[in-house]
Amino acid sequence: MHTGSQQASVVGNSLYDQVKEKLEQGLFPQWIQTDPQIFDLEIKNIFGRTWQFLGHESELKKPGDFVTRWMVNDPVLMVKNEQGEIKAFLNSCTHRGTHLCTADFGNRKTFTCPFHGWSFNLDGELIGIVAGNKIYGEAMDKSEWGLRPIPRVESYRGLIFGSLDPNVMPLEEYLGGLKWYWDIFLTRSDGGMEVRGVPHRWVVNTNWKMTLENFGGDPYHVPTSHKSTVELGISPSHPLYSSFGHQVVLEHGHCVNVNVAAPGSSSPPYQGLPEEMWPMFERNLTKEQLEIFKKCTVIVGSCFPSLSFHCPIHGSEGHLHNYLTLRVWRPLGPTKVEIWSWFLIDKSAPEEYKEAAYKGYISSFGPSGTLEQDDTEIWVRVADASKASMARDKQLNYNNLLNYMMGMGKIEPDETFPGPGTAYPTCYVDYAFRGIHKYWFELMAEDLKKIPVQA
Ligand code: FES
Ligand SMILES: [Fe+2]
Repeated sequence: MHTGSQQASVVGNSLYDQVKEKLEQGLFPQWIQTDPQIFDLEIKNIFGRTWQFLGHESELKKPGDFVTRWMVNDPVLMVKNEQGEIKAFLNSCTHRGTHLCTADFGNRKTFTCPFHGWSFNLDGELIGIVAGNKIYGEAMDKSEWGLRPIPRVESYRGLIFGSLDPNVMPLEEYLGGLKWYWDIFLTRSDGGMEVRGVPHRWVVNTNWKMTLENFGGDPYHVPTSHKSTVELGISPSHPLYSSFGHQVVLEHGHCVNVNVAAPGSSSPPYQGLPEEMWPMFERNLTKEQLEIFKKCTVIVGSCFPSLSFHCPIHGSEGHLHNYLTLRVWRPLGPTKVEIWSWFLIDKSAPEEYKEAAYKGYISSFGPSGTLEQDDTEIWVRVADASKASMARDKQLNYNNLLNYMMGMGKIEPDETFPGPGTAYPTCYVDYAFRGIHKYWFELMAEDLKKIPVQA
């Protein structure tokens, strides 16, 4: 008979033991991908304790500008107040809890609740109650009924993050070495990057780990999944073209891939950005950052747990353009992700360049993008297979383990690489994935100890 205390003390033969052993061998039990119990623990232990991307400062230009966002299931209202400070609140009225603001973005002086009409100012203070004095009388202290702030909100060079954990480590410490790579695109030009348009959103029936991994460490899929772009002449023809460069493993599950052109072929310097911008890059970046930026074709990676970034060179109408796209993988369930995709470009780039780069982005990524559609189909099928009887068997009777062993013990770090983190001299390795799994496991470990394998 199982008692509560026996359950709590399970360690030997627990999921903790199984998962630890397999991850150390470069294997990934497939049941983890879409298991509902694991999903609930991920929301608590991972999304409840880390930083999540909320938006970019350029989306909130003037006092009163606002956007509505999500931190998994928590609705967020982010506003710029009269002093120009950015504030983020739970987008839930303090009277009965409905969403206070139902628009995606806009500009307001106050927010009035659609249910009973309570109104709040840009600092989240309750300033108006319909028939307030008559029904609540003097006893009602409005200052006690302001909007509830998101416990922690911090930003890094325009990128705003929130955390539900008041004791989470500071954002900059959490990002660690990732900042050095982000700075290559965030600080290269005077004025930094700005968002153009609004984020695109769509729902895909897959798991958030799949999408995070795909951008974090999977240049290996590119020539196969996106073969049609090679056939169309949009992508290079070298069969291993996405392997060249470095894959970098950073702290807290973050990872970056810096691709370069295949030996013997060339790519335009500074990702093909206009020559008139080059002096800015040379002024704003360090020698080591320039060395990487000058010859890279793509910088792509993930910031654990739900933000990815992709800074490629893509063509539209016969011209190559560079841009930055940021991705949030918002988990809606074990097999459901809402994808948010932002387009960013250098504020100081020429207007025609910005517009052409935007066209390059929408033809490649987002709901209409050719590359996006290739990926989406595959991600959905991963979730489909993983949630079925054989793959979800926790006792691993069907050898339901996935292979994350590429490069393990064979490819050594490149000590000469100038950036932070552990850099491997090819992008065809699974070190980034194993870094993601390692941090995932660290955050999940305590709860995995309590669950027996046969659960
Ligand atoms: S729920 Fe907002 S005023 Fe009643
Ligand atoms: Fe892809």
